Amino acid sequence: MSFIVAIDGPAGAGKGTITKLVGEKLGLINIDTGATFRCVALNMIKENVDITDEAKIKEILKKINIEIRPNGEIFLNNEKVTKRIRENDVNNLVSPVSTIRIVREKLLDIQRKMAEGKNVIMEGRDIGTTVFPNADVKIYLDATPEERARRRVLQNEEKGIVSSYEEVLENIKDRDKRDSTREIAPLKKADDAIYVDSTNLNIEQVVEKIIGIINDKNIVNFEFDSNN
Ligand code: DC
Repeated sequence: MSFIVAIDGPAGAGKGTITKLVGEKLGLINIDTGATFRCVALNMIKENVDITDEAKIKEILKKINIEIRPNGEIFLNNEKVTKRIRENDVNNLVSPVSTIRIVREKLLDIQRKMAEGKNVIMEGRDIGTTVFPNADVKIYLDATPEERARRRVLQNEEKGIVSSYEEVLENIKDRDKRDSTREIAPLKKADDAIYVDSTNLNIEQVVEKIIGIINDKNIVNFEFDSNN
């Protein structure tokens, strides 16, 4: 029997960091579904496939092999792409790629298989609404666009990238709009998801809050070891 924690929310809300830490503390396998969309975008870049070329996209999807290893490394068709999928060309292509119906259908299948028979914490935009509508715990992690932009600028600084707050904020608002207004599986809080606003919380406080929510569910058949 598998136990599923779904973490949804907009770009920059801290899903990646929080999901990794909660997963480590509770012994849950961490599945970053954004990485699966990024793999499709990278595959299209590598094979020079245009976003409007549905026949070629179909070909790619037929052969695609995406692996998320327990140590978090991502493999696309047996090649390690963990860092490559975070580069600018992929950043720019991934949001439009995620609106393509056949891409979402194929990835839905891959994402469900990734969780089969395992205890997982899965992060994305549509986990609680579409991928696992019966997830044991659903969390919608949010923060104001201004706070998310501030965090992104700091993250960029740490990587040695200079970015303007105004541009980053604009970009975040654009992405929010595209992710939440697309036709298929838009970014949306599931009715039964618990809303967590991280605007005024630090990482440790968010982790603690989410672990509290998971423990409160008090699921039988699953024992957490939250002391490590
Ligand atoms: O979380 P991320 O930035 O790696 O996600 C990349 C893109 O993939 C983002 O524009 C939204 C999309 N995405 C999605 O549509 N559904 C998901 N479950 C995860 C990501």
